[in-house]
Amino acid sequence: MGRLQGRAAVITGAASGIGRAASGIFAGEGASVVCVDKAEAVAETARAITEAGGKAVAMGGDAADEAFVKSYVQRAVSEFGGLDVVWANAGISGGYVPMAEQTPEHWAEVLRVNLIGHFLALKHAAPVMVAKGKGSIIMTASVAGIRSGAGGMPYSASKAGVISLVQTSANELYGTGVRVNAICPGLIETGMTRGVYEAARARGSQDKIGQLNPLTRGGEPHEIANMGLFLASDEASYVNGQFIAVDGGLSSSHPVVRRRR
Ligand SMILES: NC(=O)c1ccc[n+]([C@@H]2O[C@H](COP(=O)([O-])OP(=O)(O)OC[C@H]3O[C@@H](n4cnc5c(N)ncnc54)[C@H](O)[C@@H]3O)[C@@H](O)[C@H]2O)c1
Repeated sequence: MGRLQGRAAVITGAASGIGRAASGIFAGEGASVVCVDKAEAVAETARAITEAGGKAVAMGGDAADEAFVKSYVQRAVSEFGGLDVVWANAGISGGYVPMAEQTPEHWAEVLRVNLIGHFLALKHAAPVMVAKGKGSIIMTASVAGIRSGAGGMPYSASKAGVISLVQTSANELYGTGVRVNAICPGLIETGMTRGVYEAARARGSQDKIGQLNPLTRGGEPHEIANMGLFLASDEASYVNGQFIAVDGGLSSSHPVVRRRR
């Protein structure tokens, strides 16, 4: 028996990085997965799962568009008979824009995708789960939402908003049996951080990536997906309203100059 045997899950941002890794791992543990992304490559995520004998469908669309969010929830119910897990994971970095050049439009788009998209997943998935008396809602936040130094201003604010959203919504869902938690990844090699990794490799400084955390390395998408798997499963049945850093220990310390032992 897989850890998610017989469960139906939606994962957004499933065309790449963390969402793609999570889709494969969830399906490998027995979940039927609705893989959601605006990028066409989401079809490849679902195809790889079905070719490996798992259950998945792909849906292309904007994870921050309310009509589309409703449609992915309905698809999980019609195709897989319910909805046990939603992982709102789609996100954009917004790039680095100097403060004087940041516009309201730039802020609005980062908050729309990274925060309002997660809220809409919660809004439309929760009623299905409340009716069942059980469910797990997972949101990808970031260490950037905990303190400064890991992203631009609107990105960091959006991720801090996600942390607040899991705290407030877990309590809004008081007595329903539905759990809401956030994961705060550190630096993970994905489409979002490709530029960082490529620039470091071009400079020959790739061994410096991740040196600020005590594991002295960057993370891999499956290391975030595995935390999602735990939160999705019954093993996390008493974990609720939390934001959990998966960052090699990065957020455990104030900045300090260290020596290797
Ligand atoms: N990679 C890191 O170091 C890191 C660190 C902390 C948090 N995160 C978060 O992890 C999550 C996943 O990102 P990733 O690192 O796997 O990057 P990624 O770029 O590889 O994947 C993100 C996916 O989200 C999709 N997406 C973006 N906007 C969308 C929209 N409006 N509708 C539908 N899909 C959309 C993209 O097409 C892409 O496939 C994001 O929320 C990101 O902020 C990443």
